[in-house]
Amino acid sequence: MTSKSSLTCEMLLTSASTRIDSDSSRLDAELLLSHVTGLSRTRFRAWPEHEVTDVQAAAFEALVQDREAGRPVAHLLGRQEFWSLPLKVSACTLIPRPDTECLVEAALDLPLPKQACVLDLGTGTGAIALALASERPDWRITACDAVAEAVALARDNSNSLGLTVTVVQSSWFADLETGRFDLIVSNPPYIPENDHHLKEGDVRFEPASALVSGRDGLKDLQLIVDQAPGWLVEGGWLLVEHGFDQAQAVTELFRSRGFAGVETRQDYGKQDRMTLGQWYSDAPVNAPVSNRGGVDAQ
Ligand SMILES: C[S@@+](CC[C@H](N)C(=O)[O-])C[C@H]1O[C@@H](n2cnc3c(N)ncnc32)[C@H](O)[C@@H]1O
Repeated sequence: MTSKSSLTCEMLLTSASTRIDSDSSRLDAELLLSHVTGLSRTRFRAWPEHEVTDVQAAAFEALVQDREAGRPVAHLLGRQEFWSLPLKVSACTLIPRPDTECLVEAALDLPLPKQACVLDLGTGTGAIALALASERPDWRITACDAVAEAVALARDNSNSLGLTVTVVQSSWFADLETGRFDLIVSNPPYIPENDHHLKEGDVRFEPASALVSGRDGLKDLQLIVDQAPGWLVEGGWLLVEHGFDQAQAVTELFRSRGFAGVETRQDYGKQDRMTLGQWYSDAPVNAPVSNRGGVDAQ
């Protein structure tokens, strides 16, 4: 039998919020306390004087210390919500980001057939593929990742959520079964190897395999744009996420490969975040570029 600690939820939350060095310190503390007590965040507001047990106080203290050391909340909880889906996460891949939901929205807006064949390259937790599967149960979705643990994690999430996605291990297109897709979507690694952001915040705890792509951050995007036409149906779409300052370079990759109707779109923070284009095998190279709220058309 555990005894009350005489520490209230509000006392713990106030103290932890001052110790955690994050823009969302109060939210982080509430999520951690919710995890150890099983109480909802709303309950902390309605019942701030609720006393936690000794065991809960000790478990919370351990989590706060880990968070003080910088470990991401998602790693401490072992899960992250994406597109309202509770996804298991681990240190083998990226923690899904809210801005990637814009990529999901863009994919859902495309004029695709009812039973579209869709490929998610570099699926990680399965975030994009599973969000699409939750909205379009008739789509036939394949997802791949080069990292075996990520493949297992995406399969685990797919099974737990009861969503049908075929997850395979492949380095981009190299080990995929031959086929053609109506849509290829990808959030690949796109951070330059010497970028100072790699030493800040949550990314310190995420693997380079999910983040870094050569000297300019474009190595993987270049390969994907280059090889995608061999895997797209006539009029098929390629939709990729990229860095806020990479729109022009990625647009140029799409154009010089011969994609049509190339567009850059923005994320929730109004940053250029994704580029898409359509593949026609007879398209002239350097087809005209359109742009909706992104970089200037050239
Ligand atoms: C930026 S993370 C994106 C994860 C997930 N799609 C998301 O949006 O949360 C990039 C993913 O690409 C995977 N990856 C890196 N190199 C790869 C390659 N050569 N082939 C396939 N996947 C790769 C990483 O393991 C990682 O899971």
